[in-house]
Amino acid sequence: IGTGSLKEKLPFPVGAALNVGSLKNNTNYRNLVIKEFNSVTAENAMKMNALHPSIDTYNWTDADYLVDFAKTNGKRVHGHTLNWYKSLPTWVNNFNGTTAQWEDLLKTHIETVVGHFKGKVASWDVVNEALEDDGTYRNSIWVQKLGVGYIARAFQYARNADPDALLFYNDYGHEYSATKRAAIIKLVTDLKASGVPIDGIGLQMHTRYNQTDANLTAAITTAAATGLKVHISELDIALNPDNSPTLTYTTELADLQAAKYKFIVKTYNSIPKSQQYGLTTWNVTDADSWIPPTYNRPDWPLPFDHLYQRKAAYQGILDGV
Ligand code: XIL
Repeated sequence: IGTGSLKEKLPFPVGAALNVGSLKNNTNYRNLVIKEFNSVTAENAMKMNALHPSIDTYNWTDADYLVDFAKTNGKRVHGHTLNWYKSLPTWVNNFNGTTAQWEDLLKTHIETVVGHFKGKVASWDVVNEALEDDGTYRNSIWVQKLGVGYIARAFQYARNADPDALLFYNDYGHEYSATKRAAIIKLVTDLKASGVPIDGIGLQMHTRYNQTDANLTAAITTAAATGLKVHISELDIALNPDNSPTLTYTTELADLQAAKYKFIVKTYNSIPKSQQYGLTTWNVTDADSWIPPTYNRPDWPLPFDHLYQRKAAYQGILDGV
């Protein structure tokens, strides 16, 4: 696979979102993860639809597999995600309950999941994507049933279930919408000021090779200015953000991508050490990226190619420190 590794060379934790099926069945994938990373996130295995298939049933199989893998191989686990408007089990979408019953549903899910992984999961994305790009609260099922106060209570439920786990608010768009960025910063600042147990802010950073350096800098430095820990939680850099069905992968694009990875790492490495929770890519290689199937287009967003080989982007990451 090559000598050295990201985890040896970067001065902060470096992780990837993992697919549990690939971890079990694909030796190349598994070995690459073992070699390169010291932090892991479940791509899907800790979402509500995966863990909580019916009101009284939890399915821990895949998530426990990932946590056991992490323990065996000395990786930190970041939990994703206790609350989201997507990846909900059908029973939640169909739940016909009073406000008190909805609150109990939220509380029980968070307490059960955080309690199950207590001492094994270092940190959680407690609430994911609660805001819209225009800075308003997303009109999710949680807002509809519980009002925006559910966010603060979700953090409190998580803190009560594992006082040692670090708690994050995770969202996207910091780098492309100044309006959304301001709304996210206001949300976490208000939560902190009112005594809600929040430790960090997750910048998903699903970005693109031609995003401006100024915007990326604004995203990272405004997050750091809150004093919270900052996790670049879902990094990938699209080469085909405009959805061309026929784009080809060129050296030129690969080099532009490498420069952007380098810039993000360099900027992240310039915030105070104590706030650098780590940098996590969303997936491992271009072969397992969520982007092509989700957006139905060719793309090459990650530091490893389809054959699990290091790309220019990999060197770009190393050059950032
Ligand atoms: C995505 C997964 O990668 C897909 O496999 C799944 O079908 C949908 O969710 N923001 C998030 C992640 O917070 O949970 C999403 O993951 C990608 C966008």
